Amino acid sequence: MHVEIFDTPDATAARAAEFLAEEIARAAHQRARCAVALSGGATPEPMFDHLAKADLPWQIVDLFQVDERAAPDASPDRNYTTIREHLLAPVDVPVANLHPMPVGLPSLAEGAARYTAVLRSVCGDPPVLDVVHLGLGADGHTASLFPGDPAVDVEDADVVATGRKVGWERLTLTVPVLRRARTILWLVTGVEKAPALRRLFEGAGIPAARLGRDDAVVYADQAAATLLER
Ligand code: 6PG
Repeated sequence: MHVEIFDTPDATAARAAEFLAEEIARAAHQRARCAVALSGGATPEPMFDHLAKADLPWQIVDLFQVDERAAPDASPDRNYTTIREHLLAPVDVPVANLHPMPVGLPSLAEGAARYTAVLRSVCGDPPVLDVVHLGLGADGHTASLFPGDPAVDVEDADVVATGRKVGWERLTLTVPVLRRARTILWLVTGVEKAPALRRLFEGAGIPAARLGRDDAVVYADQAAATLLER
């Protein structure tokens, strides 16, 4: 994996935003369209703030979610709330290009089916996302693929519902969809992530390592990188 380590979380986030902007510009040039999937959690907030200031051709960007918690609409626990407040509020992305995960339907299974259809209509079947941004949990989860949850082992679906994790049931993209993306960017900050980041590099033992993409880009701060061999 291509790792770069930065002094502070904000410097890490700024570089990650720059990387996403470069990838969007490259896809715009090569394919005239760019499908991006964004994760949730607290770590990407400053990355979204930086990205919102970039001059980007948003009209050619399709914005997907990597995962979403089945929290009430507009709840601070919804990943889309963070994306809306930190990225979308100041920029003008056509509504048709926004693809929030539908966690408010009568069942999450219905939401997974509907999101699969949207994903395939934009990214093909099997779907190929241009850029996927991922986070890492201290327990080794990525997306909403948590240790011990059956969702981690799903190889024959694009989107699945998970069990209740950290308060909420969730929808998540599956390992094969994430693994198939043209570009993968991990943004990992904070010393509590250090053991998980080390295991990601060792390539085994945690759900995040299931992706097995040696060409992924990893931006981490010094704290998260403490246990990496250098
Ligand atoms: C979520 C995520 C998840 C996240 C990690 C890290 O819904 O929680 O999308 O995969 O990236 O949990 O979260 P933090 O950035 O909050 O540590």
